[in-house]
Amino acid sequence: MPAGSKKVRITETGLRDAHQSLIATRMRTSDMLPVLEYMDNAGYWALEMWGGATFDSAMRFLDEDPWERLRLIRAKVKKAKLQMLLRGQNLVGYRHYADDVVREFVKKAVGNGIDIVRCFDALNDLRNVEVAADQVKKEGAHLQLCMSYTLSPVHTLDSFANMAKQMQDMGADSIAIKDMAGLIGPMDCAKLVKAIKEKVDIPIELHSHYTTGLASMAYLSGIEAGAEIVDTAISPFALGTSQPPTESMVAALANSEYDTGIKMDDLLPICNHFKKLREKYKDLLPEIAGVDINILRYQIPGGMYSNMVNQLKEMNAIDKLEDVLNEVPVVRKAMGYPPLVTPSSQMVGTQATVNVLRGRWKSFPKEIRQYFLGYYGQPPAPVDPEVQKLAIGNEEPITCRPGEKIAPEMEKAREDCKPWATEPEDALTWIMFPQVAKDFLPKKYAKATKRDSGIQAQAAPEAYPA
Ligand code: CO
Repeated sequence: MPAGSKKVRITETGLRDAHQSLIATRMRTSDMLPVLEYMDNAGYWALEMWGGATFDSAMRFLDEDPWERLRLIRAKVKKAKLQMLLRGQNLVGYRHYADDVVREFVKKAVGNGIDIVRCFDALNDLRNVEVAADQVKKEGAHLQLCMSYTLSPVHTLDSFANMAKQMQDMGADSIAIKDMAGLIGPMDCAKLVKAIKEKVDIPIELHSHYTTGLASMAYLSGIEAGAEIVDTAISPFALGTSQPPTESMVAALANSEYDTGIKMDDLLPICNHFKKLREKYKDLLPEIAGVDINILRYQIPGGMYSNMVNQLKEMNAIDKLEDVLNEVPVVRKAMGYPPLVTPSSQMVGTQATVNVLRGRWKSFPKEIRQYFLGYYGQPPAPVDPEVQKLAIGNEEPITCRPGEKIAPEMEKAREDCKPWATEPEDALTWIMFPQVAKDFLPKKYAKATKRDSGIQAQAAPEAYPA
């Protein structure tokens, strides 16, 4: 990228976020392989294709080894960078892991072919990304630190800009603004990018979802304010809860100083391939693909809203929906305004429901007690001390980096999974998904040992069924 160039770079999310958002992360490696050559040659800056929920889903629902997927994709993609999403100390799992696990995971992810590690923490507690970030730098990969965008009285332009400065100081090669709920509008996006640009000189990448219909507008004004990279999805897997369409963004910027350099003709075979995949997986698509007006009304993520509706229906209390929605800001304030992203969105939603149905602060789910004990990290603002006292009683909350409290886990896992391990990566799988791995690793082992003995010398089929 020549200095001073305003050329916008595109990260294609078709292989990760788009199918995670639209078809419950069910895309198979064999669905991806035939289109990779086209994707590699289209002129994308990066392909987001690993991490997030794909790791768990591959094993749990598709009987596929995520490590093998990474290697197969890497073998075919030579020009575009491969990008993954890492949830800080949570890696791609559902709890905080020990530092030795975090370091080993990053080593293996980069070692097997990841170029860019996008790393975020749900609470924006940068201590939760510190160890992963340090290891990404040690491996020589591109470190992208990512802020969870949210609206609250303590999430100001200044607070985001200061966070960006801290990220640059931690060695970030770029910064992503992650708007998981699609809440950012064009005016706010421009202001935010400008505020961050004043504090840092590394590239800014925009990541949003189309849920509210704002994302394309937000990208455009973000680009005009100086954002260099945007996340889009090839059109058959765009819009709705996914990203803005790649083709439209490329067309919108063409013949301007922001021209992406991508040719529409080169996107055509990719679009055609994903059209077939959309048809193949049409039963998994969400019923409504348009704008969700309730997300604009309540400014909470779509998943959180539908979870609350489902919870209340199950409890025969759907008439309390309005009360629960009004309780959300109360709970969020008491919890120090966590961004509403997994897992904090579920925690806030559940506590709001419990408050309405059982009386305010009369009972607390286990996760909320852990939260008030400091095990998720430091919230953006101090928690309400009285509510905290009700939640944890006389227990003493921790104030250190939560990862410090977890003893090393690698050695025991290596020992425990030894009977079925075919490669060092298996120990990581074992730690992150103990239940799934107990079923999956023996199968992987059986397949590998059969293949070695020459009994079953068959490679996985490459083309998806027509
Ligand atoms: Co996303």
